[in-house]
Amino acid sequence: MILSKFVDELPIPPILKPRWKDPFYTYYEVTMTEFRQSLHRQLNDSTVWGYEDGYPGPTIEVERGEKVLIKWMNNLPDKHLFPIDYTVHGAHQDVPDVRTVVHVHGACVEWESDGYPEAWFTKGFKHVGPYFRKQIYRYDNCNHACTLWYHDHTLGITRLNIYAGLAGFYLIRENRERSLNLPSGNYEIPLMIQDRTFNKDGSLYYPKQPEKPIPELETSITPEFIGDTILVNGKVWPYLKVEPRKYRFRLLNASNTRFYRIKLDSGQLMYQIATDGGLLDYPIGIKEIMLAPAERADVIIDFTNLEGKNIIMTNDAPAPFPGGDKPDPNTVGQVMQFRVTLPLSSVDTSTIPANLIPVPKIKEQSVSRIRYLTLNDTMDQYGREWMLLDHKPWDAPISENPKLGATEIWYLINVTDDSHPIHLHLIDFQILDRRNFDVDTFNKEKVIDYTGPAMPPEPQERGWKDTVRANPKQVTRIIMQFGPFTGLYIWHCHILEHEDYEMMRPYIVIR
Ligand code: C2O
Ligand code: CU
Repeated sequence: MILSKFVDELPIPPILKPRWKDPFYTYYEVTMTEFRQSLHRQLNDSTVWGYEDGYPGPTIEVERGEKVLIKWMNNLPDKHLFPIDYTVHGAHQDVPDVRTVVHVHGACVEWESDGYPEAWFTKGFKHVGPYFRKQIYRYDNCNHACTLWYHDHTLGITRLNIYAGLAGFYLIRENRERSLNLPSGNYEIPLMIQDRTFNKDGSLYYPKQPEKPIPELETSITPEFIGDTILVNGKVWPYLKVEPRKYRFRLLNASNTRFYRIKLDSGQLMYQIATDGGLLDYPIGIKEIMLAPAERADVIIDFTNLEGKNIIMTNDAPAPFPGGDKPDPNTVGQVMQFRVTLPLSSVDTSTIPANLIPVPKIKEQSVSRIRYLTLNDTMDQYGREWMLLDHKPWDAPISENPKLGATEIWYLINVTDDSHPIHLHLIDFQILDRRNFDVDTFNKEKVIDYTGPAMPPEPQERGWKDTVRANPKQVTRIIMQFGPFTGLYIWHCHILEHEDYEMMRPYIVIR
């Protein structure tokens, strides 16, 4: 079924109102529910899950350093929207089907409030996972101004819960950013990009089996999910009417597996101003932006003097990435449309400043520990592809145990054919470099035999990151300082089908 493009307007999620706010705390309540929502005008309303009856959920806006309490509540039905594979770790039949736990992606947060995958809870907190510690999460928001997002993180069913709709934006603001006079207010718009597939009746489709089904299993996890339809903020191929002026867009790839390489069909530049963890040193004019699952990029697009023009945001990233098929330019090769049809309501005084906020380089001399971590694939008992971090499943003993305040370099040694977006909770890191190496030699002798020079990160990656593309047959090096909290966190591939099976590991920050 091919739906018409650019017939529905882009929805902009509402800003969530706190229940109370005093000089010390801001308190929110957020309930997860099931409801029907129109995702495209040619489709029947789709049953989705969302926060506060919305998909995407409402945008949470906080100030840097603000103490925020959020009570996340599950009011979902007992039956899941999608087929569950009970052979997947954490999703065995001894737990209720519908479980949730919320992670604010990129948050600097105590571990008990980080949304540990085994800290799940059910409706009314009737059942909780073994690591559940509290009903009301506390966020200290020690990050710089940045675009974060919140989403479900339940062990074994994250891919299904996020696919059902459990995701929203979480923005941190600060005066330093305000003083830069970037486009703001109506001219600052978050864009959550996702792919989905629909059944004829308008319901969301998620596969029960991989392309080559596993005969022993009624339902099996798939190695990836690639949808045939693109949605932005929960609408299929939407359009947005804009004024002939500058806009700031907060791009987020919230897809399960799909990568995007974003361009504008007008050929014009986008000015990237921020990465995952906040503003860059200075804006970078670029023609294309690569976004793996969970990566964000804030860009300024200038529509000045483009009155009457329609501009399409396109995507030409193969799926799966990088070895998969090129997207069909008539369908998933398009994302959304900008229509420069609104009159200029006031003179555009916003700027693209020459300098933003300095990103001090983490010094390699301060490193106290180097870790060599392999991204590998193997096979499970059913012959399915099983992606792991350093050959270890989720419940192997904890092996990454950085000290509070320590700076470390992690070598992400990718021996697979996929690019894996590797995400660490709690901290932001910097990308040092990427370097090709000989996979056969590494597999046989466990030595890294480099076959090319170290390549610096792309200019638009030279800021704070919490998710990095670890490309196939490359060593990707990242550097970070662990803190300011101790406790139990995780790192994982953000391809949700990989993360669920079991490309995810706990790590602990110790004193
Ligand atoms: Cu976006 Cu561990 O998550
Ligand atoms: Cu992966």
